[in-house]
Amino acid sequence: MNDKKFYITTPIYYPSGKLHIGHAYCTVATDAMARYKRLCGYDVMFLTGTDEHGQKIEGKAKEAGVTPQEFVDNIVAAPGGVLDLWKLMNVSYDRFIRTTDDYHVEAIQRIFRKMHDKGDIYKGAYKGKYCKDCEAFWTESQLVDGKCPDCGREVHDAEEEAYFFRASKYADRVRDLLLNTDFLEPRSRVNEMVNNFIDCEGGLQDLCVSRTSFTWGVPVDFDPGHVVYVWLDALFNYMTALGYQNDKYHDLEKFWPADVHFIGKEIVRFHSIYWPAFLMSMELPLPKKVYGHGWLLLDGGKMSKSKGNVVDPYLLSERYGVDALRFFLLRSFPFGSDGNFSNELLIQTINNDLANDLGNLVSRTTAMAEKYFGGTLPEARQSAPLDDELISLASGLRGRYEEQMEKFQFQNALEEVFKVIQRANKYIDENAPWALAKDMDANGVRLATVLYNLLETVRVCTVLLTPFMPESCGRIFAQIGADESARTWGSAAQWGSLPAAASVAKGENLFPRIDMAKELAELEAIQEEARKAALPAIEIEPQLEEKVDFDTFCKSDFRAVKVKACENVKKSDKLLKFTLDDGTGADRQILSGIAKWYKPEELIGKTLVAIVNLPPRKMMGQESQGMLISAVHTEKGEECLHLLMVDDAIPAGAKLC
Ligand code: ME8
Ligand code: MG
Repeated sequence: MNDKKFYITTPIYYPSGKLHIGHAYCTVATDAMARYKRLCGYDVMFLTGTDEHGQKIEGKAKEAGVTPQEFVDNIVAAPGGVLDLWKLMNVSYDRFIRTTDDYHVEAIQRIFRKMHDKGDIYKGAYKGKYCKDCEAFWTESQLVDGKCPDCGREVHDAEEEAYFFRASKYADRVRDLLLNTDFLEPRSRVNEMVNNFIDCEGGLQDLCVSRTSFTWGVPVDFDPGHVVYVWLDALFNYMTALGYQNDKYHDLEKFWPADVHFIGKEIVRFHSIYWPAFLMSMELPLPKKVYGHGWLLLDGGKMSKSKGNVVDPYLLSERYGVDALRFFLLRSFPFGSDGNFSNELLIQTINNDLANDLGNLVSRTTAMAEKYFGGTLPEARQSAPLDDELISLASGLRGRYEEQMEKFQFQNALEEVFKVIQRANKYIDENAPWALAKDMDANGVRLATVLYNLLETVRVCTVLLTPFMPESCGRIFAQIGADESARTWGSAAQWGSLPAAASVAKGENLFPRIDMAKELAELEAIQEEARKAALPAIEIEPQLEEKVDFDTFCKSDFRAVKVKACENVKKSDKLLKFTLDDGTGADRQILSGIAKWYKPEELIGKTLVAIVNLPPRKMMGQESQGMLISAVHTEKGEECLHLLMVDDAIPAGAKLC
């Protein structure tokens, strides 16, 4: 039996809307970590899932006119939903939990009852400020500018009979856990938790853990009308998914306590204070670590399902490939801090690291092995001092990479790999294989050595990149002829693991270069389309508040006018010039800025409405004697205009009143 075990989790997602690239960030990081541990020979349990209860979901379902269960089913399991997204992103989870699964619901009921029987859950009344989006109650002093300190949205007064969890009882133990162990990382998040929630005025408050104002939750089985607070329900997923308090699974002994919970920084409070306190109450072992990663920001603000400024991982994967996107997320931002997402940065990272550095190294090396040796290097070697630096860098890479991976510093781990890739590209230039190839009799053995060193470097780097880009790395291995034994963790520290006579075959370009300007313009256009599609179908101007008295109104002289002639005004793309019969016998000329909506010929013979007693006005050097009346509104952000046309039975000149 393997005694190297690793249990890692992502947060379970609220299926309240489409997931965006920010959600993919945490899951991709977890996936890279899980794959890395498997590579290292660990028996890994990687858990993810969905957190499906609560008032927010109930409200959304109502809006959509479906039951809450139908609503979440549609987001979780339907095409384009959560499960689909993880499949697309090549997320290798071992287990997926939905908090609406029966075994979980029943387990939560047992847990709630146990805590109640123990006296850690008691009945009281709750008064406070409630944020519907975060499903969180706040005290007045916790609010920021009167708004929810987590999401910045409005909070409202709420009061209800409720059960409370005696968090205060565990305050000292939780403080000790946070301050004196490395339970919570990055350590920079510790003081905020301790100061704001434990050592604050009044100390750690008991937590409200049931609700009566809605029904979409796990029912408290001994007190109908109460449902379990969604966070208590959600946090225990990490254990019920292993079989805690249920018979569906039997992996608790093997995998609990978890090695690490990866979570976003805004839910650190729940994971580092209440989660350990719940476990202390249940007398269960605590997870070894909680890691609160930063946010991906968009224009400096948080992406969110409700803000609507979502960045679609489907679209990005389709355009750049899943691996490029996965790589970008972990290469570009330090995991513990916030990072600014932009399309420029994404394209730049793909071009620099993947197309220029990695892609080039692989294609140059495999192309030369094919060109000079038909894909199979001869076995004789002739080393030179030029080789030492590259070989030593590549041989020590696994150790440097491992050190960073163990600290969840994906960016640094990748930085180490790319230093070696860059060094290898320089090694090509230093050795100028194309010059050696000019005299194969004299330099053939040296040339084979140079190419072998390059293939080996590619191989070592590819082993270590596999957790990040599993699919592309498989293709690189195939191109350089690395068999299973040359793809292992052990082989990454073993220079020379690639068989001397491996057969190399240059494949298609792995990471095509992207034309930045063209691509940005296309993305811009797509975003503009999406923005338009999200606009209200029809918008009309609000009515004027200000009243106009009747006499003033009567001073406006509206007449039916018949179009005798109409043409575009030269040098203007807006103006049409009308010659109108206004019933007086003399022609009336009116200019109107409606060329965008009408062709002159389609208006001839029509009877329109004009106001005829406006003072004459010059436009483009021509006089306009009045104004045509039209109806205007906005449709999907576009201005729409229709000239008012009246029945043919109405004679030119008739007064409108
Ligand atoms: O919080 N950048 O679910 P959730 C980085 N159900 N991470 C982001 C992000 C962004 N722009 N936007 C969201 C919940 N996330 C709870 C979890 S666990 C027992 C219950 C991350 O769908 C966010 O930080 O709102 C969180 O870790 C995760 O996505 C799920 O968010
Ligand atoms: Mg959230």
